[in-house]
Amino acid sequence: MYSEKVMQHFKKPQNMGEIPDADGVGSVGNPTCGDLMTMYIKVKDNRIEDVKFKTYGCGAAIATSSMTTELAKGKTIDEAMKISRASVADSLGGLPPVKMHCSNLAADALHAAIEDYQKKQKSKEVE
Ligand code: FES
Repeated sequence: MYSEKVMQHFKKPQNMGEIPDADGVGSVGNPTCGDLMTMYIKVKDNRIEDVKFKTYGCGAAIATSSMTTELAKGKTIDEAMKISRASVADSLGGLPPVKMHCSNLAADALHAAIEDYQKKQKSKEVE
């Protein structure tokens, strides 16, 4: 079943919530189960200063969201872009095969939030 790390993050999720004045926001849905996740990032000097998530999903989705925020915090934008679905699952000590799709949401939502941030930066440059 679940590794101890997954249970830890599920029982005590880190960085849950919303950043009202976020620099980037990414929302994704999981086509396999219909669950939803949103990530919020705050960026300073090209680094992720703060990151929070809101998940409407299963325990594995909550645990992977929590783990992803921990992995992303303090990373540069480029480093955070390299956090993959597989690296999140690995950091949690693996996930049961039927739950692997749940780990996709968190990395995808993080990348979507970064892309949103980059788009906003570009439109600022044009102004
Ligand atoms: Fe939907 Fe896990 S069952 S994210």
